[in-house]
Amino acid sequence: MRVKTFVIFVLTAGFFMIGISVASQDQGAKKINLDGGAKGAIDFPHHVHQAAVGDCDVCHSSFPKVTGAIKDLKNQKQLKKKQVMTKTCLKCHRAKKKAGEKTGPVSCSGCHVKKA
Ligand code: HEC
Ligand code: HEC
Ligand code: HEC
Repeated sequence: MRVKTFVIFVLTAGFFMIGISVASQDQGAKKINLDGGAKGAIDFPHHVHQAAVGDCDVCHSSFPKVTGAIKDLKNQKQLKKKQVMTKTCLKCHRAKKKAGEKTGPVSCSGCHVKKA
């Protein structure tokens, strides 16, 4: 009888924990180093963008919430080279600059850091 109660307790606690982890969305890394090919890597402040942009789908509609997703999709030819850069990053930065709002870099070296 006691064993049975214990087993039920453990199972209930287990399902409760799974419920919590599904409910709280994985925010991903605070900063992400993105591969920028020959132009050099990009230090991308992920959480700054989550706060500034709000909607995850603005970026994650073109690539999933998985580390290395952009590179993988480019290798599989499902994303063109510079597609995310032009259609997502620069599109927003330029529009906000034009509107006179707080924005991110629009020049190459503002994003790409060449290894010395
Ligand atoms: C401004 C663009 C942008 C926004 C908005 C954004 N992300 Fe991301 N996210 C990225 C990029 C870029 C990557 C890295 C993809 C890669 O490695 O190819 C990423 C990766 C991730 C990953 C994978 C783990 C990691 O750290 O690499 C998770 C999880 C994630 N994002 C969650 C979220 C959630 C949740 C939101 C909304 C609250 C969000 N993201 C909003 C751009 C964004
Ligand atoms: C707002 C940030 C940002 C700016 C500004 C920017 N880039 Fe990029 N660039 C990226 C990101 C993110 C990637 C990787 C994703 C992709 O390929 O779309 C990238 C990728 C690249 C690549 C590699 C493509 C590949 O797959 O081999 C080259 C080359 C490149 N950029 C050149 C440039 C040049 C030239 C400029 C200036 C005219 C520039 N970038 C400005 C963010 C930026
Ligand atoms: C929907 C709008 C939007 C998109 C999409 C977006 N950004 Fe930004 N970005 C911003 C805003 C707004 C800021 C200024 C945030 C701040 O200073 O609080 C910013 C700032 C930055 C900065 C400068 C951060 C600093 O410390 O000064 C970098 C680098 C950057 N973005 C890179 C990127 C890259 C790379 C992508 C694409 C993967 C991207 N951004 C996509 C709106 C956007």
